[in-house]
Amino acid sequence: MDKLVIEGGSVLEGIVHISGAKNAVLPLMASTILAPGVHRFENVPRLRDVMTMMKLLNFMGAQVHLDDRGTLSIDSSEITNFEAPYDLVKTMRASVLVLGPLVARYGRARVSLPGGCAIGARPIDLHIRALELMGAKINIEHGYVVATVEKLRGIDFAFDQVTVTGTENIIMAAVLAEGTTILENAAREPEVVALAEYLNTMGARIHGAGSNKIVVEGVGNLKPAGCRVIPDRIEVGTYLVAAGITGGHLILEPCIPVHVESVVSKLKLAGLKIQERKNALEVWGSDRIISVDVKTWPFPGFPTDMQAQFMALMTLGSGVSVVTEQIFENRFMHVPELNRMGAKIKLEGRSAIVQGVKELTGAPVMATDLRASASLVLAGLAAKGRTEVSRVYHLDRGYEALDKKLEAVGARIKRVKE
Ligand code: UD1
Repeated sequence: MDKLVIEGGSVLEGIVHISGAKNAVLPLMASTILAPGVHRFENVPRLRDVMTMMKLLNFMGAQVHLDDRGTLSIDSSEITNFEAPYDLVKTMRASVLVLGPLVARYGRARVSLPGGCAIGARPIDLHIRALELMGAKINIEHGYVVATVEKLRGIDFAFDQVTVTGTENIIMAAVLAEGTTILENAAREPEVVALAEYLNTMGARIHGAGSNKIVVEGVGNLKPAGCRVIPDRIEVGTYLVAAGITGGHLILEPCIPVHVESVVSKLKLAGLKIQERKNALEVWGSDRIISVDVKTWPFPGFPTDMQAQFMALMTLGSGVSVVTEQIFENRFMHVPELNRMGAKIKLEGRSAIVQGVKELTGAPVMATDLRASASLVLAGLAAKGRTEVSRVYHLDRGYEALDKKLEAVGARIKRVKE
């Protein structure tokens, strides 16, 4: 197991290349099940979650290859195994994204139930309910969702709660269903839009992606195609905070500024200077971090995937900040670790009350999930002395070469074997 050793106090300066988005590439990969043949994706990040999805598709019978330039080809001509086994799903919940495509294309699927994870219960009841209404017969057997259907049919369905992978799964089920599906209260995340655009390139008829009402007219079949993965907006947000917390100056490219508007506007309130460039953002930290409150919301609101990193910044704020988590019930695992570094954070239900302190001090800390780990790295960059972040495999799930990218802009950070 690796750990990251950070000597805090460097001011970051330079250009950071932003990788393709993890949460965009995973559904794209799952969508290849819908159309037999060779699909090609560019700008694919080398992440542990991408490797897990490659393993899963390979297990199902697809041929997958990721080259050094980030081009991923998936030949889905011979899917013969309609199963997502527990061992893979337990390391990556997004494996559940193969459920919709399998049922739509092959009329059967056996997908392990994800169970709990470090940030809460995270059920998939809404995915299951929508598929049942579409005509699938679903049983839970030995921890697996077992689904069968002759042919899915279109439905009118309103999600009780905004769910990103739920919306993606049901769109992928609906593209080959008989008739039209209307999804209300759908997720509006850019990754949902990217998936819908790709499916349309393959011959699907999806309208309204990016709004909360998505209409899918079922078609007879789809053809493989290719696309470029959008830049990772959470990676952008994380490096914006890295500049802010070290008082540095970074240029982040490529990025799509409208994908990070809510994050940028909060960070500006916190005192960062951020300027939009063509396909890039330029950011300057300031001497004084202003404490501001934040609440997480589905897109276009402030993303839950940026909550921990924003909190790291707020630990050094000038006053008190209230950080409220509204998407997941248990996403504050970074709080005790930040407190070990000298932060003053109290939990009250779904809110963290962050009293800004003058400085953080380096400490050995342990990561519990992907974004929590990122917040500890950010805190370590600003802290006095040495911080050791263990369980780096969490970071490798979702940040491409985080240590290398930070080192290239002046951070003193090393990956070492534990
Ligand atoms: C996706 C993202 C993840 C992000 C999250 C919220 C991917 C691969 N992952 O996760 O990075 O943190 O969106 O933006 O894109 N829920 C139910 N029933 C369901 C489905 C969801 O109650 O059937 C609840 C969840 O417990 C949670 C909320 O809905 O409280 C949102 O979860 P959801 O959007 O589904 O998260 P994911 O799609 O798993």
